[in-house]
Amino acid sequence: MRKQHVITISGAGSARVPALVGTLVNYKERFPLSKIIFYDIDKDRMGLMEAYNRLVLKCRYPKCQVVFTTDEEEAYRNTDFIFCQMRVGKTSMRSLDEKIPLRYGLVGQETCGPGGFAYGMRSLGAMKQMVEKVRSYSKDTWILNYTNPAAIVALGLDRMFPDDKHILNLCDQPFSLMKSYSKILEVPQERLRARYFGLNHFGWFTELKDTDGKDYFNALRSYLKNHDFKPFNAEQRSKSWLDTYVRVNKYMKLLDEYIPTTYMQYYMFPEEIVAESDPNYTRAEESRDSREKDVFDICARAVGKDNMDGLDMLTNSVFGNLMVEVAESIAYDLNNEFIVMVKNRGIIDNFEPEAIIEVAGTIGKEGAMGYPYGTIKPFYKGLMEGQYAYELLTVEAFMEEDYTKALMALTLNRTVVDPSKAKAVLDDLMAANKDYWILR
Ligand code: G6P
Ligand code: MN
Repeated sequence: MRKQHVITISGAGSARVPALVGTLVNYKERFPLSKIIFYDIDKDRMGLMEAYNRLVLKCRYPKCQVVFTTDEEEAYRNTDFIFCQMRVGKTSMRSLDEKIPLRYGLVGQETCGPGGFAYGMRSLGAMKQMVEKVRSYSKDTWILNYTNPAAIVALGLDRMFPDDKHILNLCDQPFSLMKSYSKILEVPQERLRARYFGLNHFGWFTELKDTDGKDYFNALRSYLKNHDFKPFNAEQRSKSWLDTYVRVNKYMKLLDEYIPTTYMQYYMFPEEIVAESDPNYTRAEESRDSREKDVFDICARAVGKDNMDGLDMLTNSVFGNLMVEVAESIAYDLNNEFIVMVKNRGIIDNFEPEAIIEVAGTIGKEGAMGYPYGTIKPFYKGLMEGQYAYELLTVEAFMEEDYTKALMALTLNRTVVDPSKAKAVLDDLMAANKDYWILR
């Protein structure tokens, strides 16, 4: 049997956790665990899912020890992998991140634009503290970070902990898009190989072949110009996500060279997106009323039960599968292929060596390795230079508490552009986030 591990789920109050637990159960031969530590600073929120998570593990993973804790030391002292998906400020701050920009006619999104900036500043503070704590116990524990905005968190952690070899930042969106491509093309996802480049939530697919070398890229490009793009799990998605996918079609009708990540639209069509947004009901409320409600309802049904009769095991989410497959690939040095976030250092030869880029690559015991990409063309390079400068100035604004850098960052962001709007939105975000970050 493969060596067993201890994992910590940090941010165990996330509604994504029950499906992650389901994947851990399904992968118990591939990634066997002796113990799972559920950790969150919000006991009540974690508690909403505790009975359910305990019941699933008791029935389906009886040999695995289970701990629920709000104690940082218990969470981080003796553990091999930390699966981290904290949301600093929870849904109520997400809601403000999305609504404050809309006051100024700017995109209100959790990871892109001013909302992503504010969230990034919150996440950087909490992640810095977390990494320091974990490293006070061990330098070997792997921190698999899904905390958003991953582009900013990854860059910030690289700058704050340049010698740390055991932090890996993850995003499931390229993985999820490939699942959708696989359904459209009717080719199993395991057989698809992509070339991809960009920054996280800011990239493009540039090639798609199967393992025999058959090329599907042109077929997919023409499909996306002529048919509505739907996520593979469209039935489970709420309206805003379906709208998000369909806007990829709009981009492809204008610029069809490469296939963009769904997040590109916030930078390409900000006015249209703002016009369609409801300033009082954004994704924060939509996700609370849909996915979160469904998960909490199922979890509530587990209270007081001692078997799974009549209760489904949540599993097979893109997020959960990615986290577990990445951990497995590190733990047993499998060097499986993923789309990874890594330091550039020549992977894209005409782009900032110190940037954290997103490309196809492998993951093994040394972490993520990107495949060499080569040279990128001026259009993409131009877009990425601006976005990277925005990310870098955001990280520097956080580290130096520098207001001017923050203002420059937001002015550079394609969803903002006008420095007077950047200042207005920054001042409001700063007031709303006064418990989390400051600028001088
Ligand atoms: C994708 C992105 C994640 C993001 C999530 C938001 O999976 O890659 O970075 O957190 O979508 O989803 P939600 O349903 O909460 O809007
Ligand atoms: Mn992501």
